[in-house]
Amino acid sequence: MARMLTASDVEAAGGKLILAAGDRLTPLARDRARELGVVIEAAGSSSGAAPTSTAAPVAKARVATPASAPVSAARPATPVAPSTASGSRPLVLPPSGALYRRNALGPSGPSSGAADRRPKAGVVGAGHVGAMTALRLAESDLFSEVALVDVVPGLAAGLALDMWHGAGLYGFSTRLSGSDDLAALAGAEYIVITAGKPRQPGMSRTDLTAVNAEIMTSVCRGIRTHAPNSTLVIVSNPLEEMTHLAAQQTGFPEERVLGMAGVLDSARFCALVGLTGKARPQEVRAVALGSHGPEMVIPLSLAFVGDRPIESMFDAETLEGIVERARESGGEVVKLLQKGSAYFSPAESAVTMVRAMVRDSGEVIAACVRSRGAYGAVDTRVGLPVRLHRRGLKEIVPLALRPEEQQALQEAAARIAARIAELPASR
Ligand code: 2OP
Repeated sequence: MARMLTASDVEAAGGKLILAAGDRLTPLARDRARELGVVIEAAGSSSGAAPTSTAAPVAKARVATPASAPVSAARPATPVAPSTASGSRPLVLPPSGALYRRNALGPSGPSSGAADRRPKAGVVGAGHVGAMTALRLAESDLFSEVALVDVVPGLAAGLALDMWHGAGLYGFSTRLSGSDDLAALAGAEYIVITAGKPRQPGMSRTDLTAVNAEIMTSVCRGIRTHAPNSTLVIVSNPLEEMTHLAAQQTGFPEERVLGMAGVLDSARFCALVGLTGKARPQEVRAVALGSHGPEMVIPLSLAFVGDRPIESMFDAETLEGIVERARESGGEVVKLLQKGSAYFSPAESAVTMVRAMVRDSGEVIAACVRSRGAYGAVDTRVGLPVRLHRRGLKEIVPLALRPEEQQALQEAAARIAARIAELPASR
């Protein structure tokens, strides 16, 4: 099996690294070999001679490179040390001409034949949230492909091509595809669903229920057919209702259907604390639970700036004001934009969830999941603290809440359950 050798492999190789047929080096691995003077040899070359340092090129020659090395014609040949006594030539590859990151694949990416074992991701809905989500998933370089799908002919394909045009600048090797057919999601392990109408000024998320329920139902039937083993991250609003519908219409195990809200609402709270000037958003920790709407619960007992309880830094009135503004932040952006809703932070929040799954990070984040009685809440779809793993929900995390916080969470679940019960598909 062809290998993709990284800088770590070069560092571990000692003085010489033998490339088997089809093996490839990342650009960083090539540069690391040069830095460390590691000899790169193709398997089978007569290697009796002492390793020749690749750090001191003395003669100009065409670079002798393994056929599989990602050497583009545009790159200059690198002078290499003269052949060793045995006649074998150390394989020194030209410097990488591309922007790259540690362990990134070569500029020609996976298409050069090396097995690309990274998962495929999909995004349904190529509006602002979906397009930004697709780009940020590609930029993470955690995926072999990101397939963007939208019902509008040409929209997803055009945006995917536009993003790919920047691949060399962004430095990712993820392939991007765009289609108006849900069949393009085949093989995707993670699918972010952003399809649906966004709010307009004056609308509540619940006002979107009827129109987005129809869209969600159609999308999920397609996903059930084309990507039956995928894990879903729902962004469409009203979030809890759409997450419920996605689970119902795909028939997927509950663990593979997650709603994105708490990551966004928690981030908004942290950012609003940052506006006080007393802390940077990155220093603030908080978890938004309950609903992605009026029943949002941000337990202040679980909010910290560094290791300091947030209640030791701000008075209760200030904190309540921040919580309220976080709860209304979506509407605040809608009112300012006048057409459509937020997309940068929702997209980054969805990507944060997918990244946590791919990396199996074990971090505690907030997600809309099937509660099954957790926190004493009625069994419904509600924002709870969870750990995710590669396939989706790993566990609901039992954090200590104050009685009034737990009661607010239970009330949120009860009101969500009532709204879900009103969905046509639930009747
Ligand atoms: C928001 O709160 C779109 O629901 C998303 O901005």
